[in-house]
Amino acid sequence: MTRYHEIYQGWQKDPETFWGKAAEEIDWVRRWDKVFDAGAGVYGHWFAGAQCNTCYNCVDRHVEAGRGEQAALIYDSPVTGVKRSYSYAGLLDEVSVLAAVLASLGLGKGDRAILYMPMIPEAVIAMLACARLGAIHSVVFGGFAAKELATRIDDAKPKVILSASCGIEPGRVVAYKPLLDQAIDLSASKPQACLVLQREQAEATLSAGRDHDWAKAVDQARAAGKKADCVPVSATDPLYILYTSGTTGQPKGVVRDNGGHMVALKWTMQNFYGIAPGEVYWAASDVGWVVGHSYIVYAPLLHGCTSIVFEGKPVGTPDAGTFWRVISEHGVSALFTAPTAFRAIKKEDPKGTFIGRYDLSCLRTLFLAGERADPDTIHWAEEMLKVPVIDHWWQTETGWAIAGNPVGLGALPVKYGSPTVAMPGYDVRILDDACKEVARGKMGAISIRLPLPPGCLPTLWQNDERFRESYLDEYPGYYKTADAGFMDEDDYLYIMARTDDIINVAGHRLSTGGMEEILASHPDVAECAVIGIADKLKGQVPAGFIVMKSGVEKPAAEIEKEVVALVREKLGPVAAFKIAVTVQRLPKTRSGKILRGTMRQIADSEDYKVPATIDDPAILDEIAAELKAHGILGR
Ligand code: COA
Ligand code: AMP
Repeated sequence: MTRYHEIYQGWQKDPETFWGKAAEEIDWVRRWDKVFDAGAGVYGHWFAGAQCNTCYNCVDRHVEAGRGEQAALIYDSPVTGVKRSYSYAGLLDEVSVLAAVLASLGLGKGDRAILYMPMIPEAVIAMLACARLGAIHSVVFGGFAAKELATRIDDAKPKVILSASCGIEPGRVVAYKPLLDQAIDLSASKPQACLVLQREQAEATLSAGRDHDWAKAVDQARAAGKKADCVPVSATDPLYILYTSGTTGQPKGVVRDNGGHMVALKWTMQNFYGIAPGEVYWAASDVGWVVGHSYIVYAPLLHGCTSIVFEGKPVGTPDAGTFWRVISEHGVSALFTAPTAFRAIKKEDPKGTFIGRYDLSCLRTLFLAGERADPDTIHWAEEMLKVPVIDHWWQTETGWAIAGNPVGLGALPVKYGSPTVAMPGYDVRILDDACKEVARGKMGAISIRLPLPPGCLPTLWQNDERFRESYLDEYPGYYKTADAGFMDEDDYLYIMARTDDIINVAGHRLSTGGMEEILASHPDVAECAVIGIADKLKGQVPAGFIVMKSGVEKPAAEIEKEVVALVREKLGPVAAFKIAVTVQRLPKTRSGKILRGTMRQIADSEDYKVPATIDDPAILDEIAAELKAHGILGR
């Protein structure tokens, strides 16, 4: 029997009592004046008047409650061969000493710190150290290039940047320091200091004055007995900014507050994921993404779990059995990853030979999110692992599941292709263009009635206006998810497509608009379009179509290579931009709008109707011919 309906209805009837009760699970320095203050902020603020500290709730209070000896973090790095564990007491020591170092570099309450780091425990320690000081961290994923990092530095204006000398990708060491130096050169806003963790795989050259050796600074602070205490902040103060792709090259700075975030994430651990304090929880993602923020760092630690920090890939580090080794070796109860990781494993080991080599009896549930979970992948995972496979749908903006199957409350029947039902806190409606609800089973814009629940973004960093324009203006009274889909008679949601130019590549969210800006900057390109095309492994991959300026004599193949290299250089390898196709003309409507949807249908070999408004239908055949010549059609 599931308690979902009773709990959801309880929330609907009285949201403030619901969240007020959930907030009892958090230790507050000062309790709230109002659970929800509708008059504050853009659409209201949760836990207005309360004071708290997120690091205290993630670390100190567990030590005070006797959990000091339990492992808080287990670092497992098949790419370096290192395994290391941090108890809650050990983590407290590391975090308070690093916080003292950061304070000595001038970082204080409300200041920003950018983290550009690989998947190592120091990244988690750094996030918590910022939270301890009331400083606002902004983690930038290591697969982004210098220019992307520079854009974030210019927007967040960090006092301090924390980085490591390198990251390790299978088969290559990625030197981070030259990228960091280049990013600082490119940005108008300069940090006061950089703290750089030297890794033996590629030591970095430190600039005198600005750069500090992380390990040395920590050793010195420890020797001097320096530790920083938790600084109380308002529940509504930002804990972090996480930049995510918008419709242009300028990413959106999603803000997360302290109080509501803790309340929501703590609630999900037992009620959604069905995890008890003390259990081992593994989100196989990266701290550079929202899944990493919420479910490698904050939620498991708020709940007193052991969280795994995994520096590796599902395949190739060294093989498709790595996930199963980690699960059996560390006693993982719940695994959370993106479907693409399972598609990669399935491709390498379709019969699950590696699975049979490990004792996976500790694993109770597999959770998938980040992109659409295709039924084939779910079936395969269910058959191989013999545990429930739970899809759930959310976004960087929400920070936790909008819809899912709440195992902790008792799972609902699975309908393949649906992430199941809305979670308490979310009143999800499917709207038409006139902001009217559509009938069950009919496609529309998936929207959430305001206010958003605790944990969701209150605004964009120093940009209320862009927040309103991007999310609130189109459907007054609602938050626009920019996902399209439908709801069935049983309230199950189906997430079908984005309504904007965002694509999802291996669970990574990318803007095709941002890529178009880069292609257009090539001196030989007259115009261009980037679309996401279906890919068996990554879900989608970007494909760029370019029209050369007249008079350009360079061979098309050469320009195609150059634009591929340009996207890698400007946006980063994470874009996985490898397909560029030169065409004579782009298909457009008579009013000049590029028909990207039709191009995608052609590339994906889907049936399509020639749009009535097309300027010249012959262009569609030209596009198909070029795709064929490039080996894209029928891949
Ligand atoms: N630093 C530097 N480069 C990075 C990087 C990082 N942190 N992360 C990825 N890259 C690089 C990769 O090396 C790759 O480079 P290449 O073009 O030279 O091969 C490129 O960025 C694209 O990365 P990715 O799309 O991840 O492809 P991949 O082939 O390396 O791996 C998967 C494919 C499916 C194994 C991988 O995407 C994966 O494990 N996904 C799991 C899900 C996940 O992490 N989702 C995140 C949100 S939940
Ligand atoms: P991100 O902000 O990177 O987490 O990406 C959010 C987007 O990924 C959503 O708006 C969806 O388009 C997509 N997404 C995430 N999870 C799912 C899911 N379970 N099913 C379908 N799409 C998903």
